[in-house]
Amino acid sequence: MPALAPSDIIAVIGAGAMGAGIAQVAAQAGHPVRLHDNREGAAQSGIDGVRHQLEKRVARGKMAQDDVETIIARMTPAATLAELADSRLVIEAIVESLEVKRQVFAELESVCGPETLLTSNTSSLSITSIAAGLERPERLAGMHFFNPAPVMKLVEVISGLATEAEVAETLYATAEAWGKVPVHASSTPGFIVNRVARPFYAEGLRLMQEGAATPATLDALLRQAGGFRMGPFELMDLIGHDVNYAVTRSVFDAYYGDTRFEPSLVQQALVEAGRLGRKSGQGFYDYREGAESAVPNAASPVEADLPPLIIEGQAGNIAPLVTRAEQAGLEIVRRESISGQPRLRLGGLTLALSDGRCATERACDEGLEALVLFDLCLDYNSASAIALAASPGVDAESHDLATALFQRLGMEVCWLTDTPGLVVLRTVAMLANEAADAVLQGVCSAQDCDRAMQAGLNYPRGPLAWADGLGLDFVHRTLSHLQQSYGEERYRASFLLRRQALAGSCFHE
Ligand code: NAI
Repeated sequence: MPALAPSDIIAVIGAGAMGAGIAQVAAQAGHPVRLHDNREGAAQSGIDGVRHQLEKRVARGKMAQDDVETIIARMTPAATLAELADSRLVIEAIVESLEVKRQVFAELESVCGPETLLTSNTSSLSITSIAAGLERPERLAGMHFFNPAPVMKLVEVISGLATEAEVAETLYATAEAWGKVPVHASSTPGFIVNRVARPFYAEGLRLMQEGAATPATLDALLRQAGGFRMGPFELMDLIGHDVNYAVTRSVFDAYYGDTRFEPSLVQQALVEAGRLGRKSGQGFYDYREGAESAVPNAASPVEADLPPLIIEGQAGNIAPLVTRAEQAGLEIVRRESISGQPRLRLGGLTLALSDGRCATERACDEGLEALVLFDLCLDYNSASAIALAASPGVDAESHDLATALFQRLGMEVCWLTDTPGLVVLRTVAMLANEAADAVLQGVCSAQDCDRAMQAGLNYPRGPLAWADGLGLDFVHRTLSHLQQSYGEERYRASFLLRRQALAGSCFHE
């Protein structure tokens, strides 16, 4: 379906943070825009706010003043819904209330023609439910922008039960014409991003609650080893714990208490204490004046004569790590693997990439005296930190040897208490698992899921492409080990991930 023409009128209802931003996007794409808000003067303030934002760009030399005038001239405040009658598309961004949204759409149906497309920017309400009771529910869909709308690329185009395919296609093409990255999703709790991202916060909170490491250490690992723009704790502090906790609760309740979405008592306590993050001055971190900034717990530099690094078996996922060791001047010896798994040996010490078992369990299973597990990195070539955990048989000397090895490669070394799946691997496996379930349940395609996570949250890789790269068999094994370690449903592998792993196929062929 073609996109709407730039001459088509776009109406935006609600001139708050989202509505004003969406109106700006449509006006910048060339459309005449009508902005309505039921608060006296709010629509004009919204337009003034857009002018202010655009003039900041002029001041930075990124836009011409003439362009600002052209864009602003396209935006008109509308005092009533009746003034939106000739709009081709209406985007609603008012208060998050099902009842109020239903009323507004019912009134819109009575003033707009049958060809007008009606959309809601809701982030938590069901599109199916908003459309129920309308005369033309097939003309209503979700258009979920992210904050700030002029900056964030992702738009989730949400189809409710009744939404016509061609309506969703037109919205998709229109969002694309506006320079956005649209994805299709069916109306299910959390849609794509707010659902698939839950483990990013949940696994961090869980690791912290279990005393695996401090928030500053976990954040540093997800940034420096995982390649995420921000770690979960700094991100939750930025979003606000009240908001993040409310989203988690609503997804948890909407999925009838599925433990995969279980909210954290640690976060609940922060909300109860009013430590909402940056906006209140305190969250996981202290933002008050004079407060000391928290630093990751990295090992002090260790000097040690490193024996040759023996690599047993096909290096597979850790091949770039071996290359980095070679480039750092270490002597590398390659041997056949007896266990079938790639392992590194350094003197009497065995080192291996985590597979979801803790070091204690894996050392027992594999009959190893001293085992150090290391975490997954997005790219072992460029990672600047890594998490390690030791089995009880690792003495002080072996501990130092493992530290010295990774320090020699230029990495900060963070020792965790012995925890299954460490940090990055566990987070990525759970993100991929959630993504796989969303695909299994027809919420979105694998391609749209990955696009959404990258465009909406700046993830360094789509979770499914990441899982493909690691090998679905390995990701499935990791999840099974996590489930075994905790004995919890929370870590159960998605059936789709299991089937793909068994079939030896990928999400992205
Ligand atoms: P906001 O509170 O900044 O703005 C809402 C605006 O709607 C206000 O100006 C209010 O006067 C107006 N309004 C309320 N009821 C109205 C009615 N019946 N008719 C006309 N105008 C009415 O809210 P915000 O943050 O812009 O959110 C709006 C919608 O966008 C909500 O559905 C929210 O869930 C969704 N959303 C919010 C995001 C965010 O990060 N703030 C991100 C994505 C979606």
